[in-house]
Amino acid sequence: MGGNVNVNETNAGQRIINDREFALRLIADPTSAEARQVVEAADGLRSETVGDSIHLRGLIEFSNYCRNNCLYCGLRRENGKVSRYRMTPAEIIAAAENGAELGYKTVVLQSGEDPAYSGDTIAEIVREIKKLGLVVTLSVGQRIPQDYELWRSAGAERYLMRHETADPLLYERLHPGQSLVKRVALLKILKELDYQVGTGFMVGLPGQTAETLWYDLKLAGELQAEMVGIGPFIPHPETPLGQEPGGTLEQACLMVALTRLILPQALIPATTALGSINPLGREAALRAGANVVMPNLTPKKYRPEYEIYPNKICLGEEAAECRGCITRRIESLGRTVACDPGHNSIWLGRRSGS
Ligand code: SAM
Ligand code: SF4
Ligand code: FES
Repeated sequence: MGGNVNVNETNAGQRIINDREFALRLIADPTSAEARQVVEAADGLRSETVGDSIHLRGLIEFSNYCRNNCLYCGLRRENGKVSRYRMTPAEIIAAAENGAELGYKTVVLQSGEDPAYSGDTIAEIVREIKKLGLVVTLSVGQRIPQDYELWRSAGAERYLMRHETADPLLYERLHPGQSLVKRVALLKILKELDYQVGTGFMVGLPGQTAETLWYDLKLAGELQAEMVGIGPFIPHPETPLGQEPGGTLEQACLMVALTRLILPQALIPATTALGSINPLGREAALRAGANVVMPNLTPKKYRPEYEIYPNKICLGEEAAECRGCITRRIESLGRTVACDPGHNSIWLGRRSGS
């Protein structure tokens, strides 16, 4: 393959995983000609494997309370400047109904790690949303496996929980009192429960190296993640990392591209964080291998309080405005909004026994 990444060679992803020197050379210089070729190759592979339509997931950020203290996140429990809110089950279901009316096929229920919502409460919310004919993705952090099992039985099909960084020491520094081993063990349990599992990581974290990012890719590959979310770290002034530099568009897009080559069938979002550091950041990711966008469905009054990082987009828009905006952006790329539920095809194949 030399310096070129030819997607007709089925082993492009394998080479990234196995050829350390090749991978690190690419990751270390995301603006090189070689890196640009990789991005183009990944876009081509994306078109061949998952097609040109883009899946929308309506994001409902239902609580900004969090028991954790992740060093990078604006919702960390020691940030006393956040005005905290919790949506009631009725409000969450109403937001999902709004999503269904706007044509979303999936809603993503996301929150800080908030024990105020019991396993049963979340299960009941999932059951109510399933009655609307929607796919339910959960992203509420680390819980006991029994909760994950309960929610899967209630009808939730997908779970998003990024591993954040595959460097165990960096993980411990960024997440006081927590371990990468436990995070990965929970991701494996979610897989065993037959969720479509989303992992992912931030790029540009203080202390992260090209090698760490290579391990991030390898871990996503090892887990055979059905979804992989990759976004730039954006420093939040009210956190201990507030004065650090953030991740770049080029680096995040390259990691999206490499992920596509490693996991050709994956659902890969063009993240809101990318759209927040660059007005056309999501479009750039959609041209680098991504095939999902997660517009905001959170009621407008709560949006400014879910400030995981500053300058987050879509704070002043109604859900309907985001829905229209994202359609225009997708169409500007010559792509279309998908009409199907947008499941990972490998997961679907496993379920039908094929
Ligand atoms: N609490 C759940 C969890 O941690 O998995 C879900 C919500 S959490 C806010 C969602 C994601 O936000 C995290 O996985 C993390 O990667 C991302 N995030 C948090 N702070 C960020 C920052 N400063 N810059 C970019 N992404 C950030
Ligand atoms: Fe809480 Fe998630 Fe933010 Fe960590 S990243 S502080 S778990 S909301
Ligand atoms: Fe929210 Fe564009 S997606 S305003």
